[in-house]
Amino acid sequence: MAAPRIVFAAAEISPLAKTGGLGDVVGSLPTALQPYCHTITVALPFHEEIPRQQLKQLKCLDRFELVVNHKPITVTVWQARTIHSTVPLLLFKQDTYLSRGKVYDGLSVLNPLTGKLATKDSLGQRLKYLFFSYALHAYLRRHPRAFTIVHGHDFHVAPALALVHTDPALQHMRTVITIHNLRYTGSLLPHYWKLFQPSLIPLFDLTEAKRLYGPRMLWLGLRWADAITTVSPQYAKEILTPQYGGDFAALLQQRRQNLFGIINGIDTAQFNPATDPNVRHHFSWRTIQRRADNKLLLQRECGLPVDPTIPLVGMVARLTVQKGFHLVINAMKQLSALPIQLVICGTGRTEFMRGLHTAMQRYPKQWYFHDAFDTVFSQHVYAGSDIFLMPSRHEPCGLAQLIAMRYGSVPVVRSTGGLKDTVTEGDNGFLFNRYASTTMLAGVQRAVKVYQTQPKQWQQLMRHGMTADYTWKASAKLYSDLYKRVLRSAN
Ligand code: GLC
Repeated sequence: MAAPRIVFAAAEISPLAKTGGLGDVVGSLPTALQPYCHTITVALPFHEEIPRQQLKQLKCLDRFELVVNHKPITVTVWQARTIHSTVPLLLFKQDTYLSRGKVYDGLSVLNPLTGKLATKDSLGQRLKYLFFSYALHAYLRRHPRAFTIVHGHDFHVAPALALVHTDPALQHMRTVITIHNLRYTGSLLPHYWKLFQPSLIPLFDLTEAKRLYGPRMLWLGLRWADAITTVSPQYAKEILTPQYGGDFAALLQQRRQNLFGIINGIDTAQFNPATDPNVRHHFSWRTIQRRADNKLLLQRECGLPVDPTIPLVGMVARLTVQKGFHLVINAMKQLSALPIQLVICGTGRTEFMRGLHTAMQRYPKQWYFHDAFDTVFSQHVYAGSDIFLMPSRHEPCGLAQLIAMRYGSVPVVRSTGGLKDTVTEGDNGFLFNRYASTTMLAGVQRAVKVYQTQPKQWQQLMRHGMTADYTWKASAKLYSDLYKRVLRSAN
């Protein structure tokens, strides 16, 4: 069988345009897939925020018209290489709907119904990505032999997969969708679908089409893609239940023969404590004694008492419900009663920001909250904390616990999704089951006790974390097997 020709399609790519783990995966997995593919390319909107100086050999490949609300709209498609990797990009440019502003800047997107900019961020985002799907499908039709598999990520590109799968002109092409987060589904009222892509409407089933806020983009991918993957085996099991799969559990149950869980890797060249430019005292397992200085620097940076013996608990996360901030804020008093310091980096929901600011005011010697998405400070936390807390309510994979382990911070995590697949109690970290402040506290206490009373055991935990294989190698092979499988299957 000929090696596959793959196009990834996604909203984000690290480091050009990234807001979270999706960007990391799209930025690093294609490189690991290169040995298995004839070609692999990443298609994404030509976001204004993409720094042009990081692109090389930029050239316009194609130009065509789409119709939106009876008006012709010109799209240009650019090919580029980046200074970061050998994977080529396909960048889709169109100013009013697609490429203005940042990755999820919905407010800079034109609403074709009103002829003005969208007044709701979420609406603008959905319009932007529906347009991207529309443009991607049109491009593939114009170049039907360029790729054999379209591999889309999350709801943003799900409509493109349905369009490709049901297009008689593209019968030879296969489609794969990866779910990074089932909570973002992209609902859009029917009149918008009609303006952009009326042929998608019949692809919904009745119950989906009748939804209050309109049919959801993600549904199209889950229903029509040849294969569905998600980013850990455990999450693949969980989303078959209503608790985790929500409205999609029934559809996923029907499609379970085509649902696969493949764990994420990380870019181990980028996330390497021995070379990371944002780590102030480089270290590896062999030079672990150098790590301690990073903790002292972090304590000083945060205005906390500088003391190597106090266990320092770190968190780096978006401040969302998913990441378990209800538990952290509810347990503020009890956490503060432990002999620990907490350093948290992230931004998001106002109520969580407020809660963490309150904690910092009330317990200034113990809490420090850095309210920003800050890739430099994050690395200080990974390299300087002793314990890394991730009390997620659900976690498709989670990359932070992998980075933390590689940097010698021992994770305390809720036993769910990819956290369950990557952390083992007593071997490389600590787990708790029930989603509650009390169980989370018990987990932190267990870790603190080992840290304070069993230094040898603690060293073991760190060593197991730091020396494990977090590369994409094994998972890239699994994706490649899956590609072979979908290429063999009939449409
Ligand atoms: C999303 C998920 C996270 C996963 C990441 C990359 O951000 O919430 O669990 O690790 O995508 O797949």
